[in-house]
Amino acid sequence: MNPTDPILLFDSGVGGLTVLSEVRKLMPQAPVIYVADYAALPYGEKSEAQIAARVPALLGRLEERYHPRLVTIACNTASTIALAAVREALGLPVVGTVPAIKPAAAMTKTGAIGLLGTAATIRQAYVDNLEAEFAQGKLLLRHAAPGLVAAAEAKLRGEPLDPAVFAAAAEGLRSQPGGENIDTVVLACTHFPLLEAELGEALGRNVQFVDGAAGIARRIEFLTQGQEFSRENPDLAVFTGSNGSLVKLRPALSSYGLDRIEHL
Ligand code: DGL
Repeated sequence: MNPTDPILLFDSGVGGLTVLSEVRKLMPQAPVIYVADYAALPYGEKSEAQIAARVPALLGRLEERYHPRLVTIACNTASTIALAAVREALGLPVVGTVPAIKPAAAMTKTGAIGLLGTAATIRQAYVDNLEAEFAQGKLLLRHAAPGLVAAAEAKLRGEPLDPAVFAAAAEGLRSQPGGENIDTVVLACTHFPLLEAELGEALGRNVQFVDGAAGIARRIEFLTQGQEFSRENPDLAVFTGSNGSLVKLRPALSSYGLDRIEHL
């Protein structure tokens, strides 16, 4: 293996940058290729069949083109639907993203946990299984908040945000039976930690948030233990399609060390 071989982080959009910042903390020397599948954003509004058909094939193409040493699906929607198929399709280690229900169950004092994700994520059996395994005896209330994906994208482009989006997400949890007791919220979409301040205001200060980013970074570090890394060039951001907003996104990408952009 070459020390310049990258770690590839994959998401539908900018959400995976929340994982990238945790990777940077643990592994500052690791070269990274960040891939945003803008041609198919948002994943959360797609069907299982669409995600299952798209993600393994696209990651296969990316593996051939960029020869990463490891792939991370920094997206809950893609992971909860297609992780097993991606692992089968690729010949290298694949790290997925799992809604942080286990740590949330350990953190809650009231026993009431909220979960914000995409529509596609919150209906997955994968989430039912995590709930059954780790949140027994707790109340787990799920809410799909697709508006937050668009808001996170807008925030990174430096655009103004509409507070009504955060109020609606908070209301979607609080209005469910038992929702008034929620003290811990799982951010089960990698876009959402980008909006923690806004969500904190909407939900009230007593609510704590939990997401999987730091755990994913630790997993990547573990799987690459003993490997040499050398980050010789600015890291690369790759976009499928283009929604015409990449110019506005450049400063944010740059703050994550992504100073080269390619289109696929
Ligand atoms: N960032 C993705 C996730 O973690 C999904 C955003 C989308 O809907 O594309 O679920």
